[in-house]
Amino acid sequence: MPLGNKVAVVTGAAQGLGLAIARRLARDGASVLLCDLQEEKVRGVADALVRDGFQAESASLDVTDAPAVTAVFEETFRNRGRLDILVNSAGLGQKVTPTVELGDEEWRHILEVNLTGTFYCCRAAGRFMRRQESGSMVNLASINAHSPAALVAAYNAAKAGVASLTRTLAIELAAYGVRVNAVSPGPVYTDFNRKTMAQRSRTLGITQDEMVERVRRSIPLGRWGEPQDIASMVAYLCGSEASWITGQVYQVTGGLQGVSATPPRTTRTRA
Ligand SMILES: NC(=O)c1ccc[n+]([C@@H]2O[C@H](COP(=O)([O-])OP(=O)(O)OC[C@H]3O[C@@H](n4cnc5c(N)ncnc54)[C@H](O)[C@@H]3O)[C@@H](O)[C@H]2O)c1
Repeated sequence: MPLGNKVAVVTGAAQGLGLAIARRLARDGASVLLCDLQEEKVRGVADALVRDGFQAESASLDVTDAPAVTAVFEETFRNRGRLDILVNSAGLGQKVTPTVELGDEEWRHILEVNLTGTFYCCRAAGRFMRRQESGSMVNLASINAHSPAALVAAYNAAKAGVASLTRTLAIELAAYGVRVNAVSPGPVYTDFNRKTMAQRSRTLGITQDEMVERVRRSIPLGRWGEPQDIASMVAYLCGSEASWITGQVYQVTGGLQGVSATPPRTTRTRA
């Protein structure tokens, strides 16, 4: 059991990558607190893990609510006496929009959930890990952090921010034995990507199936990612096998280097 006796918190754990990561950490022996905005759904998946014989609990949490974030970590530390692992998977895709037409509210919201929410969780967990002088955090960045895609400027900027935050925290917490890394997934067909593919196919005037196939063909390893592909890397970074790794942002993308494609013109700029 590589993560036996470890206490882990996973955000965005009701579905998608967060759920796969929570399952994997639990399977590796960790006691996992699954947090998500979707209260009922996260309770259901945590209960299912318990029925399967794993150690899991759930908490309703909006990562953009700083006092609520602090309270969840304080309670976890008080109840369990330690906090070994934080995985920040809570995230939100952006409405596919030309940047010059992007509204203030969409920009603010995407930055708030993807970047500020990650900061709140790292800050709260980091205080306990620093005191404990051990711990591992893994943030979910994105291939977009390395190679921005057109029409999702706020998301690209938020994920580049997550990569930078990861490296900054790693330097600051290294002296306390706390490691901080990030994983940048390529395309995995979760709810998140289902929505994005639907919007992108409309901007290109093709069907969603054609869009999904076009993405598949662009991936050197010839298939979309599975949630387990991401969960394996996260679990590795959480465990002692990775004890000399910090401040790294790993792309797990099937070899894909970037998702950028130049969108066609949609407006006339001259008479
Ligand atoms: N799926 C991909 O292809 C892909 C690629 C690159 C990066 N990512 C990143 O991986 C992470 C997980 O993505 P996913 O595909 O599982 O998405 P998803 O939409 O399936 O799941 C995201 C989860 O986060 C939760 N969430 C959203 N806002 C929240 C908030 N304010 N507080 C708490 N929970 C909140 C949602 O309820 C949901 O359960 C995200 O950060 C995403 O940006 C995903």
